[in-house]
Amino acid sequence: MSREKTIKYTEYPSADQLSREDIDLLTRAWNQTQNAYAPYSHFKVGACLSLEDGTTISGSNQENASYPAGLCAERVALFSAAGTHPGKKIIALAISAKNQTNDLLDPVFPCGFCLQVLVEMERKQQKPIRLIIGNPNTRVLVFDSGGDMMPFAFDAEQL
Ligand code: THU
Repeated sequence: MSREKTIKYTEYPSADQLSREDIDLLTRAWNQTQNAYAPYSHFKVGACLSLEDGTTISGSNQENASYPAGLCAERVALFSAAGTHPGKKIIALAISAKNQTNDLLDPVFPCGFCLQVLVEMERKQQKPIRLIIGNPNTRVLVFDSGGDMMPFAFDAEQL
C-alpha cells in the first residue's frame, strides 16, 4: 500500500509579513549570527526561542578544531533552555543564518540532529514548537511543529 505524508508550512515572501512577535524572534535569531564561532565553515547560524513566560533564549553555532565537537545554533539554544528553565514550555524557535558573502537566497533549515532533539523536546513538553525560518533577504517559512519537518523521527518508545 502506498501512503503519503505531506509537509505543512506557511510561506511568507519576506519577514515583514510576520506577526510582531515572530519578527522580534527572527530578528533576535539573525542578530545572534554575530555570536557564532565559525572559523572553519564561515557559516554563521543564529537561533532564538521563546518560552511560555515570554523569556527568550538565544544560541549560535560553536565550532571546534575537532570538527564533530562543535554544535549547531539550534541545539545550543534548545539545550540551554532545558538546562536553565527546566519544565518551562518552548513556544517557538526562530532560525536565521548567513554565509561568508551574506548572499543566501533561501532559508537555512535545521539539520537532522537538531530536528531529532526538537521532536523529543516537543514530546517531552507535550506541546509543538513553532519554527520560524528565514533571513532578512529571504522568504520565511513557518512550521507549526518541528515534527512537521521530521514526520518519521526516531522515538524513545522504540528503544
Ligand atoms: N549549522 C547550524 O548551526 N545549524 C544548522 O541548522 C545547520 C548547520 C552549523 C554547523 C556548522 O557550524 C556550520 O553550520 C556548517 O555546517
